[in-house]
Amino acid sequence: MSKQVYNFGAGPAMLPVPVMEQIRDEFLDFQGLGVSIVEVSHRAKQFEQVLLAAQERFRQLTGLPDNYKILFVHGGARMQFAALPLNLASLSPTKKCLYVETGNFAKLANKDAKAFGDIQVIASGADTNYDRIPTIDPGMIDQDAAYLHITTNNTIYGSRYNSFPDAGKVPLIADQTSEILSRVIDYSKFGCVYAGLQKNLGPAGTALVVIREDLLGHAVAETPTLLNYEVCAKDNSLTNTANTFAIYVTGLVLEWLQQQGGVAAIEKLNEQKAKVLYDLIDGTDYFRGVILPEFRGIMNVSFNLPSAELEAKFLKEAGEVGLYALKGHRSVGGIRASIYNAMPLAGVEALAAFMREFEQNNG
Ligand SMILES: Cc1ncc(COP(=O)(O)O)c(C=O)c1O
Repeated sequence: MSKQVYNFGAGPAMLPVPVMEQIRDEFLDFQGLGVSIVEVSHRAKQFEQVLLAAQERFRQLTGLPDNYKILFVHGGARMQFAALPLNLASLSPTKKCLYVETGNFAKLANKDAKAFGDIQVIASGADTNYDRIPTIDPGMIDQDAAYLHITTNNTIYGSRYNSFPDAGKVPLIADQTSEILSRVIDYSKFGCVYAGLQKNLGPAGTALVVIREDLLGHAVAETPTLLNYEVCAKDNSLTNTANTFAIYVTGLVLEWLQQQGGVAAIEKLNEQKAKVLYDLIDGTDYFRGVILPEFRGIMNVSFNLPSAELEAKFLKEAGEVGLYALKGHRSVGGIRASIYNAMPLAGVEALAAFMREFEQNNG
């Protein structure tokens, strides 16, 4: 590599360098087979080992209870927006499904579900430009509902739930795409947690779904085979040709995370990284964070400069010094630093130094 580049892209996002080096080193010859991992059958015993090891590592990292299945499913996170009501809406006699709208993806989640259930948005942060997470009182949760869906970390804005709603007997479903394995969570509080792989796990286009066993077997008859979680669990994610490469990379990322000390250790580091940026933002009026301090997450730090012109200059000059993909989401503009698990502290410090210098030169 000619110069050090730090990738702050929101997803596909940076992978740990040792993982990419291992992929490179064994790409042409997987485990002495003389063929690449992308050429090995998904039914081969060598691939089955890769899949089982990835699932086992996820279980070890999360302390996932035994009554939860781990699935790898096609179509990334967004495909699950439709798969969820197809699999779960019939848990309610009226197919009532509850959603909390805390950002763009939370909104898309209920939009894509509308064809398959009676979708009700019980709270929304739209009125305040999603700068906070609305309070969910237990009284707001109809106990006849099939499930309550939340987006635990809002990738575009950078807000997150610090504590999760108590949904009573209603299964709590969480889109954790932009924060899975970045902080310790108690999976037993959730009926289902899912995430596109492309931020903290691996390549895009596939999602990891964790689902409690009693929630399997309720899919409506029209559910396409590949969106049916029960079928996927029965076939251990091998109903059709799986995305073998994505699962292989995820296994390596999970192994890397174990070597870093696991989720609690990476959470501490993630907090330290986010603090570097938020301390800087809080110490000046030049940079303005978009999220109220008590709802700030530790994965996506979104902020503005005094003008759109200065933001364009910031992005151009940042790119020139190897600070890559800091542009905010096309729907909101501004700057966004995505600092997922694989981002080293040094990358965040390099960004902070650049921000200080930019303010000095342009303030
Ligand atoms: C919270 C969240 N949910 C869903 C998605 C959509 O993921 P995918 O592109 O894998 O469908 C994203 C993508 O960034 C996301 O951040």
